[in-house]
Amino acid sequence: MTRIAVLVSGGGTNLQALIGARDRGELGGGELAAVISSKADVYALERAKNAGIPGYVVARKDYDSNRAMTQALVAKLKELNIDLVVLAGFMHILTEEMVQAYPNAIVNVHPALIPSFCGAGYYGLHVHEKALAYGVKVTGATVHFVNEEPDGGPIILQKAVDILPGDTPEVLQRRVMEQAEWHILPQAVALFCQGRLSVEGRIVTIKEGE
Ligand code: GAR
Repeated sequence: MTRIAVLVSGGGTNLQALIGARDRGELGGGELAAVISSKADVYALERAKNAGIPGYVVARKDYDSNRAMTQALVAKLKELNIDLVVLAGFMHILTEEMVQAYPNAIVNVHPALIPSFCGAGYYGLHVHEKALAYGVKVTGATVHFVNEEPDGGPIILQKAVDILPGDTPEVLQRRVMEQAEWHILPQAVALFCQGRLSVEGRIVTIKEGE
């Protein structure tokens, strides 16, 4: 069974979508083995507790650099025998030690259609502010493997979402979550756990199900 760790920094609605998929038997047999937060006192840890998933804190503020935090995270993930790392609203850039420890075994959900509105500085509500300021009519979400480049790894799944007149960043964020993120993140995790994803260069191929 694939042991999954979900890395979070905040509210954890994407974590909740994964818990829902697990409870419906739709996680491809993956086990939600740990939730690790970069901050104490976030609601995502409460969600983990309510779902019977062990929660841990590796606080960014306890480390001098992203590299030091990444090294502590890798040590924790190895100690917990984790096979798949899911970044679900994790708000820090991990350094290459993580990618080396988990090649093509880290997935991230990003609230835009990569390669638009992504990379350093594009996280959380800022992504939607920037999409609205640019005037695009369609945005969405992307689930991708994590490599050394922020938001630059091979794309697994994407889903488009319309921007509507009068949208605020908050309204758009909610629509992107409801219509895209909460669906494609559990789907991508299930595909990984079923061994249906293969990666060649930038291209992810999804094998047919049984
Ligand atoms: C989500 O929209 C997620 O895609 C985004 O932050 C939000 C977290 O919400 N992640 C990033 O911007 C990472 N670059 P959640 O804590 O409710 O899942």
